[in-house]
Amino acid sequence: MNITVLSGSPKGKNSVTLQSVNYISKLFPEHSVNVFHIGQTIKTLMEDDTAFDSVMASVKASDLIIWASPVYVCLVPAQYKQFIEKIFASGMADVFKDKYSAVITTSINFFDNYAVDYLRAVNDDLGTLFAGSYASDSYDLLTETGQTKLAHFAAQVFEDVQAKAMFGRRTYPLSYSWHVYESGPAPEKVDSGTQKVLLLQDENYDGTNLGRMVERCVAGFKAEIEVVTLSDLTVKGGCLGCIQCGFDHECIYEGKDDFIAFSREKVAQADILILAGEIKDRWLSSTWKQFFDRSFFQNHVPVLKDKQIGFLIAGPLTQMVALKGTLDAMIEWQGAHLTDTVTDEVEDSAFIDARIDTMVRRITAFAEREYIRPPTFVGIGGRKVFRDDVWGRHRFVFQADHAYYESNGLYDFPHDDTAARKMSDDMIELTKDPDMRQTVRQMIKKEMVKPHMAIVEKAEAKKE
Ligand SMILES: Cc1cc2nc3c(=O)[nH]c(=O)nc-3n(C[C@H](O)[C@H](O)[C@H](O)COP(=O)(O)O)c2cc1C
Repeated sequence: MNITVLSGSPKGKNSVTLQSVNYISKLFPEHSVNVFHIGQTIKTLMEDDTAFDSVMASVKASDLIIWASPVYVCLVPAQYKQFIEKIFASGMADVFKDKYSAVITTSINFFDNYAVDYLRAVNDDLGTLFAGSYASDSYDLLTETGQTKLAHFAAQVFEDVQAKAMFGRRTYPLSYSWHVYESGPAPEKVDSGTQKVLLLQDENYDGTNLGRMVERCVAGFKAEIEVVTLSDLTVKGGCLGCIQCGFDHECIYEGKDDFIAFSREKVAQADILILAGEIKDRWLSSTWKQFFDRSFFQNHVPVLKDKQIGFLIAGPLTQMVALKGTLDAMIEWQGAHLTDTVTDEVEDSAFIDARIDTMVRRITAFAEREYIRPPTFVGIGGRKVFRDDVWGRHRFVFQADHAYYESNGLYDFPHDDTAARKMSDDMIELTKDPDMRQTVRQMIKKEMVKPHMAIVEKAEAKKE
């Protein structure tokens, strides 16, 4: 069997993810494996069509395509996304049609599900037969269980390809109406007071739906707000995954391009961030992805904490599982507030105007109230994954995070809650007695709600 491996890591041969592919290659030497270091050679692939064409030629000659990528900021690295964008833009997407495909990722399992969802949706769009995904922890290959699991996964995929197994899509093709949005009568302006508002867009969208949505949003604020276009900044490249930032949050690009200073001086200082972008394939653009990846120089520190965040998006967001999920994840775990997301999906300009005006009003009100929605599982679960990782196996690598987590109370382990542990221990002891056990059992429902009822009882009408 001919296999093309599209490796997403910017670390090339030093990719941890690629070792899983190499391991499979050794176990199944009967297959011929052609690896392309997409993430590492993205500049060449973007500038040199011969290099890009040779990847496409290999895909064409293959029975199976393995998408092997690390998870970067809940998705794939920006460099890999840029390559995916080029596949669609080049008009050569057809070479993937009816090929078998599989995904291998490594990560610390922080929203790796969305990286898989994304690659799966891209493969639906490419018309491949998706044979499965193997999303593992970075260290799984070091264990015997991990090796066995990986071997089973590979064996099944190869067997499926040889058996010409049939697989279905998981997502429908995107449907999107390319209607024109035109802003109507000027909005009533909102006074944002002392709040610093920053609107970021990946490109200049003048003359498009999104450009007009941005204009409407800017016009909604009484004061002039700052608008920064990411493509106007000098950004030398994507995150290289070198983790040199782990010791003291200093990026190797520091002083070499605009990004770090921009991040510290503009993004970090804003109270309200409005992010605008157009959907490209199954996410926002790779320029936006690069923004999030490069922001990783601050590692696992919640730098967006307490900020209000809104999105203006052109394209079919309601059909985007991975995009909606990653936006929620990236914002919630940090303790920021995803106030609203306005899209141009509804073919009614007055409605879009009203939605943008509503977002401007609400984002300002939330900032003034300092209101951050309580985190759901997405935020709570995400934070716990980071907490355990920074405290444990990666403390040495992420020393700056460790110092931050320690001094900001982020090590909130349940075993540190001594009062709760004591109460549980006492009650366990008490309920060893069968009669007491029965009595307490009857009391639980009422006792649990008692403190809540006491609060409600004391509540008074509130004026803000
Ligand atoms: C910039 C960056 C962002 C990352 N983001 C995530 C993430 O969102 N979720 C996760 O589980 N791991 C994340 N990781 C960890 C990597 O996925 C993990 O270390 C992976 O094994 C690296 O694979 P590679 O050596 O093939 O590049 C991130 C690592 C880097 C460098």
